[in-house]
Amino acid sequence: MPDLFSPFLINTKLIKNRLAVAPMTTQQSMPDGTISKAESDWLERLSEDGYGMVITCASSISDTATAFHNQLSIASDNMIAGLSELTTRMRNHGSVNILQLCHGGSRTIESLTGVKPCSASSYTLPSVTGFVPPLALSQEQIHSIVSDFADACVRASHAGFDGIELHGANGYLFTQFFSRMTNLRDDHYGGSLQNRSRFAREVVKACRHKVPKDFIIGFRMSFENMGMETGLDIDENIQIVNWLAEDGIDYIHTSHLNYAAMTNKYPDKTALRYLRDTITKSLPLVGVGGILNAADAEKAMEYGADIVAIGRAAIGNKNLPAYFKEGKVLPYHTPYSTDLLKESGISENFIDYLKNAPPLASLKIMKP
Ligand SMILES: Cc1cc2nc3c(=O)[nH]c(=O)nc-3n(C[C@H](O)[C@H](O)[C@H](O)COP(=O)(O)O)c2cc1C
Repeated sequence: MPDLFSPFLINTKLIKNRLAVAPMTTQQSMPDGTISKAESDWLERLSEDGYGMVITCASSISDTATAFHNQLSIASDNMIAGLSELTTRMRNHGSVNILQLCHGGSRTIESLTGVKPCSASSYTLPSVTGFVPPLALSQEQIHSIVSDFADACVRASHAGFDGIELHGANGYLFTQFFSRMTNLRDDHYGGSLQNRSRFAREVVKACRHKVPKDFIIGFRMSFENMGMETGLDIDENIQIVNWLAEDGIDYIHTSHLNYAAMTNKYPDKTALRYLRDTITKSLPLVGVGGILNAADAEKAMEYGADIVAIGRAAIGNKNLPAYFKEGKVLPYHTPYSTDLLKESGISENFIDYLKNAPPLASLKIMKP
């Protein structure tokens, strides 16, 4: 098994080690989505911390795709200048930098977008209190979202990112199309797995078509319902991954809270190992979830991850890669105290988000 601190090639970009920062929403951009000083400082800090790859928070691909207040945006050319400054700062520290692209679908916020949330279909989620059924997208609207993704991808390349990651995990628009629970369409975007994957495949192909060959296009996916009830089993997820690989993605990033999670379908197999054994052999695999020390990271690599992404532990522990390199225990663990976060330079907005982020109870931090 390769060393955690050995380099790894994705597309033509050499990543200096196997550690990535997982994408994390921070809600600390300006209200119009322009990058703020707080967000730039945070992302530069992560590069400086020594990760080989830094993936940004989910950024909004268009003005009607926004799913969070103060979400970073790549919806217009006006965003490029600020992001270019950011990538220059990050590149100085030697990280490969990836902008995550997102459309919230049913999770977009009407007061921010000015339009009612739209999705693959109109559906209800009885388990979610106050859920407002989205409107079904017309085919014309779908085509226009495909173009929005491709335009956002071009802007990301103009802003100096090494690549983008399409946020196909955790219940956002791509998941809403994949899921047989939320995609009830009867045209060629709904029904069979092939049809439910069509939107994502069109986005990947449109992005690939518009950017230079060496620009990284990654895809993040939830496997077996993680993030949203999808009704997909892991073999269906894998089929989608393999189609996306044919269409030109450069890596697949899982979304798990535990890197050692077993699959539901084959309870004696870890999802990572099963994925590695079944996805296109040459497709790089990024694993994630509860990685807290070098042994966890190496275990994830043993299961088949080429790169391991760190989320929560990266927030409270500056210079995390050095701790892993020296085999040292991390000084801080969740729940982080507000004081620690403030001392580490984490903004009030990000702290508020961490306090309130409901889906991940273990995120809860101590209130002062
Ligand atoms: C504060 C916070 C915000 C997150 N925002 C995103 C996001 O914008 N996009 C995404 O794909 N995942 C997001 N996630 C999930 C993380 O990328 C990661 O998969 C998860 O936290 C598990 O990794 P960890 O155990 O190392 O924290 C977020 C997680 C946290 C803690």
